[in-house]
Amino acid sequence: MKAYLNGQFLPLSEARISPLDRGFLYSDGVYEFIPVYSRCPFRIDEHLRRLQDSLDGIRLANPLSDTEWKRIILRLIAETEFADQTVYIQVTRGADVKRDPCFPPGVTPTVFLFSAPLVGPSAALREQGVAAITAPDLRWARCDIKTIALLPNVLTRQLSADSGAAETIMLRDGYLTEGTSTNVFVVRDGVILTPPQDRHILPGITCDVVLELAEKHKAPYEVRPVSEDELRNADEVWLTSSTKEVLAVVTLDGRPVGHGENAGKPGPVTKRMHAWFCTFREDVMRRCDA
Ligand code: PDD
Repeated sequence: MKAYLNGQFLPLSEARISPLDRGFLYSDGVYEFIPVYSRCPFRIDEHLRRLQDSLDGIRLANPLSDTEWKRIILRLIAETEFADQTVYIQVTRGADVKRDPCFPPGVTPTVFLFSAPLVGPSAALREQGVAAITAPDLRWARCDIKTIALLPNVLTRQLSADSGAAETIMLRDGYLTEGTSTNVFVVRDGVILTPPQDRHILPGITCDVVLELAEKHKAPYEVRPVSEDELRNADEVWLTSSTKEVLAVVTLDGRPVGHGENAGKPGPVTKRMHAWFCTFREDVMRRCDA
C-alpha cells in the first residue's frame, strides 16, 4: 500500500515517525477518511472543509492549501492499485524534542496519508441488516472535532464486537448521540429523525448527503434531539458512514427493531434511502473529473 509522509510518497511499510510525535504522545492531531469510488474521491471538498474545522478546533494551522491536499490525494489514488479505496489523512502537531503538553513553537506538523481498499458491508449484510447494541457515550465535550484520540470509541466499539454486533450506538443523558464510527437515523411514523450536529456528534459527510436526499425526495425528516425511548421504539434504525453508506440496524440490544411484519428486517424507508444514496453516488461518479 502507498503512503505519503511529510512531503514524500513511499510504500506504507517504509513510513516512519518519531516516538516524540505529539500524535503518539498526546493524541494531539486530527484525521479524515475519504471514500473513493472508481478512483474518484467522494465529496472531497466537504472532507477538506471538515479537516479545516477539525484543525481549527485544535488550534493547528493547516499545513497545506486545498490545492496541495488535492494534488497529494489524487496522486495517492492514482498510485494505488484498487479502483475503490479509502484515503486516510492524519495531521498531528508534529514531533518536538521533549515531552511537554504546551504547543511547541516552530515545530512542523506531521502529515500522513495512506490509501487502502474500500471494504463496505457484504451484499448479504446489506440485505439482512446488522445487530447493534447501546452503551453510554464516554467521550469528551468536542465530538464535532475528528480527533485521533479515539480510545473511548475503541473501547465502546469493542463492546459490540464482543457480542457479535456491528456497531455500538451511544447514549448521553437519555439521548441518542451517534455510533462509534457512524451517525444514526431513526424512523418513527414515517418521519426520519437524526440528532442535530452540535458538539456531541461528528458532522458526518454521509449524514449530510442523506439529509439532502430526504429534502430532494420530499421524505419527511426532522433534525432534533432523539430520546432513548424513541430509539428503542423506532420503526427503523440505520447507520451512515463513508464505508457503511446507509446500513439497516435490525436488532438493538438483542431485540428486533421495528414492529409487525417488518420487525427485525430492514424497513422500507431505510431501503428507499439506500437506493437514493446509490443513485446519487453513481451520478456524482459519472460527473467526476478528478
Ligand atoms: N468514521 N461519527 C463518527 C464518530 C465517525 O467516526 C464517523 C466516521 C461518522 C460518519 O462520518 P462520515 O459519514 O463522514 O464517514 C460519524 C470514519 C469512517 C472512521 O473513523 O473510520
